Amino acid sequence: MKDFTIIKIKSNRAADIARQFYGIEGSIEPLPGELDFNFKITTDKNRTFILKVSRPDEKPDYLNFQQELLLHLEQKNCGLIVPKVIKNKEDKYISTFKDKAGNKRYVRLITYIPGRLYSDINPKCDLLKYSLGEQCGSIALTLKDFDHPCAYRTFEWDIAQSLWTEKHLSLFPDDKREIIEYFQGLFKANNKSYGNLRKGLVHNDANDYNVIVDDNLISPKVRAIIDYGDAIYTQIINDLAVACAYAIMNQNNPLASALPIVKGFHNVVNLMPEELEHLYTAIAMRLVISVTKSAMNKILEQDNEYLQVSEKPAWDVLYKWKEILPHFALYSFRAACGFTPHPNEDEFKQWANCQSFSLNTLFSEVQNKEIYPLDLSVSSTWLGHQQDYNNPKIFQFKLEQLQSEHPDKILAGGYLEPRYFYDTHNFSKPGDSGCERRTIHLGIDFWMPHNTAVHALYDGEVITAVNQKCVKGYGGLLIIKHTLQKFCFYTLYGHLSKKSIDENKLGKKVKAGEKIGSLGNFSENGNWIPHLHFQLLLDCFNLKDDFPGVGYHSQINVMKSVCPDPNLLFKSTALLPKQENDKAVLKTFRKKHLGKSLSLQYKEPLKIVRGDRVYLIDENGRKYLDTVNNVAHVGHENYRVVKAIREQISVLNTNSRYLHENINKLAGNLLEILPEELSVLHFVNSGSEANELAIRMVKAVTGSREFIVSEVGYHGNSNACIDISSYKFDGKGGSGAPEHTHVFPLPDVFRGKYRGRKSESMYVKEVEKLIDGIHKKNRKVGALMVEPIISCGGQIELPQGFLLAVYKAVRKAGGLCISDEVQVGCGRVGETFWGFQLHGVVPDIVTIGKPLGNGHPLAAVVCTQRVAEKFANGMEYFNTFGGNPVSCAAGNAVLETVKYENLQAHALKVGTYLKHQLDNLSKKFPIIGHVRGHGLFLGVELVDAQLNPLPEHADYLVNRMKDHGVLMSADGLDNNVIKIKPPMVFSQKNADTVLLYLEKILRENFMTNY
Ligand SMILES: Cc1ncc(COP(=O)(O)O)c(C=O)c1O
Repeated sequence: MKDFTIIKIKSNRAADIARQFYGIEGSIEPLPGELDFNFKITTDKNRTFILKVSRPDEKPDYLNFQQELLLHLEQKNCGLIVPKVIKNKEDKYISTFKDKAGNKRYVRLITYIPGRLYSDINPKCDLLKYSLGEQCGSIALTLKDFDHPCAYRTFEWDIAQSLWTEKHLSLFPDDKREIIEYFQGLFKANNKSYGNLRKGLVHNDANDYNVIVDDNLISPKVRAIIDYGDAIYTQIINDLAVACAYAIMNQNNPLASALPIVKGFHNVVNLMPEELEHLYTAIAMRLVISVTKSAMNKILEQDNEYLQVSEKPAWDVLYKWKEILPHFALYSFRAACGFTPHPNEDEFKQWANCQSFSLNTLFSEVQNKEIYPLDLSVSSTWLGHQQDYNNPKIFQFKLEQLQSEHPDKILAGGYLEPRYFYDTHNFSKPGDSGCERRTIHLGIDFWMPHNTAVHALYDGEVITAVNQKCVKGYGGLLIIKHTLQKFCFYTLYGHLSKKSIDENKLGKKVKAGEKIGSLGNFSENGNWIPHLHFQLLLDCFNLKDDFPGVGYHSQINVMKSVCPDPNLLFKSTALLPKQENDKAVLKTFRKKHLGKSLSLQYKEPLKIVRGDRVYLIDENGRKYLDTVNNVAHVGHENYRVVKAIREQISVLNTNSRYLHENINKLAGNLLEILPEELSVLHFVNSGSEANELAIRMVKAVTGSREFIVSEVGYHGNSNACIDISSYKFDGKGGSGAPEHTHVFPLPDVFRGKYRGRKSESMYVKEVEKLIDGIHKKNRKVGALMVEPIISCGGQIELPQGFLLAVYKAVRKAGGLCISDEVQVGCGRVGETFWGFQLHGVVPDIVTIGKPLGNGHPLAAVVCTQRVAEKFANGMEYFNTFGGNPVSCAAGNAVLETVKYENLQAHALKVGTYLKHQLDNLSKKFPIIGHVRGHGLFLGVELVDAQLNPLPEHADYLVNRMKDHGVLMSADGLDNNVIKIKPPMVFSQKNADTVLLYLEKILRENFMTNY
């Protein structure tokens, strides 16, 4: 930069210039810019322009170049939105004036393109990035037939000229210099082929302040790219590299973020494989230019913040980018463009197709030559419960049993199998949408006794012989390189004995069939059951001692190309991957053949194949933190419950017409935690059945069918239950309250008919009015049925004193009081074991459902002796499944777990913490109008400033949380309440995860716009 005095142009001066040269007036706003002084002018006719005043040293030719370029794009009329160039009063595109220091300054006026800056978009989803790639590609394509002498200039921001940065290495401390030198080294090493890449005139500055995005808050797309001041004739791939370099800033996973941009660009420009070979380094070099410029600018112009905006994020990316293996990035770019990720994949397959390898070669001393496929996938029922398969003795026993059932076969399998058991930190990393875990097994496992001899499959040279860290410890790893005429490939042998490693020195030549080692024992095998992990590789990325045998599902296409199916060599039908229906097939079948009113959660439904404490796991091994499932009360697949069911069903399951310990024990366990008055139990199979029975009891005791219930209450799916469920009869497809059902308004002190803490008496009066109404019809009150916290109503806490007063009124009128504890019972509310105890009342009937069997269908009706006696009028109450020994075993295990693991106290502790933190969040984000509930039964209500409900925001939040691996649901009268009712083993750490992502999503554009 030349040494001269920069006279800053202020807004009032800019206004004069606009008036003088263009005859326009309006409000004026300075905009950031690296070289020009830019001003946005909005006229009173609502036309908007950008006035650009050059710096003193600007060359007019160069400004002409920009104007002509814009005119070219405009004239091409190819759908691109570009700023229009406006002529001055003298019919010229460029005006001039002299500033106070006597320097000549050039002025241009262009139209303003409305929209949002890319930098302001949150979240930056793949569709947006794809559209960014497409826009850059379209500009490059449209500029194909434009030329100008200024396009061929020396320019520091041109990646092709980026080696000027070498002269400024001294500006950086050692660690940063090392990174810059690394990328400069890569750039220089490939300079020759880079020089031969196709060139063209490109925009060259699609940074996130130059990219204009449309106003769609859910699926935004790039509308235009502005500021052509950096346009240059250079390698076409550089334009993509520039767009990527900025768009991958502030992302956890920069490579994954770049891929949609590459895809979009390729869709327009048709990138060539040789161009992709330079993309990784080109992106890095643009970042190197950026950080070098920032370091220089810090010295030159300390107060121009714009010049340093991307310094920190650029460094963050450079550190992360260096961690990415250049070849891996290349394969990912190739995959994004539809090429085989590994360039040799097709050739390897053709070669393998013509070979016939036998398992004889690998295990020549083993007689069994056939395979028995062993399924260790996430959904494998053979694998069974985590606690079982994590126990090596049980796992070994099961393997031996299977082997003895198939003595002539080798147990093997696992290529591309999604597995759940890699559950250590080594296997996970933070992604841009929650945590990502490596789950995809990249080789085949052969399960054989330790010491089984292993032989080389093909002639080669040992390139790796180490003890490698595996899942639970260390195991011997050998990699052999096989050189063919046109390419090479590698075979990897994992879990070998230590001796095998000692005997195979690097560089040792081996012949096909030569013994290379033997399977390690338990400890040599990473503290696991002996097996050989056999993997093919087309590239081992120089990761000679740490090649991953398990990959991320998001990278499966790349990894299966780099690690081809070993069965291409063996061609065993038994090793073909397990056929599982994908989600689309399951959805289509379900739509046609399962009840038409069954719903599916989430816009993009999940296929869930395994449960594990507070997590549900999909078919690819992705873990979802479950805050919805109060059925899995003591945790998904709680081992105590699983074992109880498994053991009992192996012995007996029958109806309750025989004496049996389990049913008595369950009754005893429940009586222990119920008030004395409630002393008779009936076991049924669902909450609906429990309420159905309660309704029959009311009729038997009072002779009345008049029910008093809450607005938006839900009590079950049977005829009689629907008739008392306002949630259903007042909801979609319903036809209003039946004649004998009397509905009081939802006692919601936040947004209900009466508001505020003191509104309890008003709601009591509403119930009293209903009682009067029943009497006026000369009828008797049957019962009041209400949940202690109204769940479908949106976790509505009953106002203090309400239940006590209405119980009194109902009883005075001769009616019974029923507490529906199907959602809230069994310790969930924390302070007390049952919800009604929060209100100091004792009901006549209590119905218990969901949590009691931890997912096994088990429910109960508890009543007083008086109710039980009246109900037993001679007609037998028979229930085929209710109270069977298996269900009761489940129920006992649940109640014992709640007791021995102190889950009620745990719910209180974690629930109170979470509620408090949610309250804090509501102070930062006013969209959270109300946080309520008890223990681990909480509700978060989303409203605008006028307390209008925001159901679309709740829906957005729920779906975005799912994208981040957290399952939530929305409910309530207006579907604007996020319900939180996780398994009771939900920890404070789990609560923090929920809070972390809630806060992240609450900042997204859609959530802040209401
Ligand atoms: C409060 C309440 N009562 C009863 C039921 C019915 O229970 P089930 O679905 O087990 O029949 C439900 C179900 O969601 C419920 O929430």
